[in-house]
Amino acid sequence: ILQRPISLWRYKEFLPVQIEPVTLQEGGTPLYHLKRLGEELGLTNLYAKHEGMNPSGSFKDRGMTLGVSMAKQLGKNIVACASTGNTSASMAVYAAKANMPAVVLLPAGHVALGKVAQALMHGAKVISIRGNFDRALEMVHELCISHGIYLLNSINPYRLEGQKTIGFEVVDQLGCVPDRIVLPVGNAGNISAVYKGLCEWKEIGYIDRLPKMTAIQAEGAAPVVAAIKGQLPEVVVEQNPETVASAIRIGAPVNAEKALRAIRETGGTAESVTDAEILAMQRDLARYEGIGVEPASAASVAGIRKMAEMGLLDKDEKIVCVVTGHLLKDPETVIKQCAPPIEIDPTIEALLAVL
Ligand code: F0G
Repeated sequence: ILQRPISLWRYKEFLPVQIEPVTLQEGGTPLYHLKRLGEELGLTNLYAKHEGMNPSGSFKDRGMTLGVSMAKQLGKNIVACASTGNTSASMAVYAAKANMPAVVLLPAGHVALGKVAQALMHGAKVISIRGNFDRALEMVHELCISHGIYLLNSINPYRLEGQKTIGFEVVDQLGCVPDRIVLPVGNAGNISAVYKGLCEWKEIGYIDRLPKMTAIQAEGAAPVVAAIKGQLPEVVVEQNPETVASAIRIGAPVNAEKALRAIRETGGTAESVTDAEILAMQRDLARYEGIGVEPASAASVAGIRKMAEMGLLDKDEKIVCVVTGHLLKDPETVIKQCAPPIEIDPTIEALLAVL
């Protein structure tokens, strides 16, 4: 497998697609050693898997190359999804490649600009609803059932089949199973997917243990954390989720049950982080490591900072944080945080004066 070109399709024996896939060479994203941040936190083996380096700038491309390929294989004509942004951007990209019409429902006013731009430019029919993501998902689900449209949210099991390859790549890049894999959690599909993939590899004996699956949520949208901490059998829906990390502004995660299982069966955990902690980590990743991610993505590493400060982590623990989406997805949040460029007259004197 490792001799094959770098793409998630090198793992095709573990994937259900039987036709020529709809692909843009997704996967094969870099795994970076976080040296400076690791030093600050007293962690020698801290890594980030940069999923923002996928074709549309997020991990959703792994799910969409599978999802749209399966839509084709199953003879479906139209695809649809609800989205906090990245799913819609990715679906629009792959639907364009497959020459399929795509319908997208977004929560009005709560989707980062770069993601809307992608969905529009790649030709999806983009509709904003005056409601949140959870309502958009209910609506698109109903639309798909009543009109035979192919639903490409992570309720669709083929999405998770694609995303499970994150776990495969982590093991192959690291050369071993990490002690812990940390993911930002919204609809809880990605953490469930990574867990599923690694369970499959354990079953065939390629690996002999599983990492502690660790979920990080934003404080204002943390139903999975509440379930884990409260030892509840299932997730209680949060009616009004709120966070600067708009990608994970979700109160009713559809894959919650699978995520709880992944966390509990691996001895993992769930933690929440504040918006301030998320934004601070977004800045630190950018300035200490040269890694540009959107706020939701920084949540995974922010969660590790919090856990390290609480003394919950081993200094030598091999920890892989999945950072899920690229910095350029959400330029507006960046502009709000950083001082704007200094504008000067076009003279050397003026330049030296401000330096
Ligand atoms: N990080 C980013 C950047 C995301 O866009 C999402 C989900 C997540 C993390 C959480 O992943 O839902 O599998 O737990 N975004 C979805 C969307 C909901 O519509 O783009 P999850």
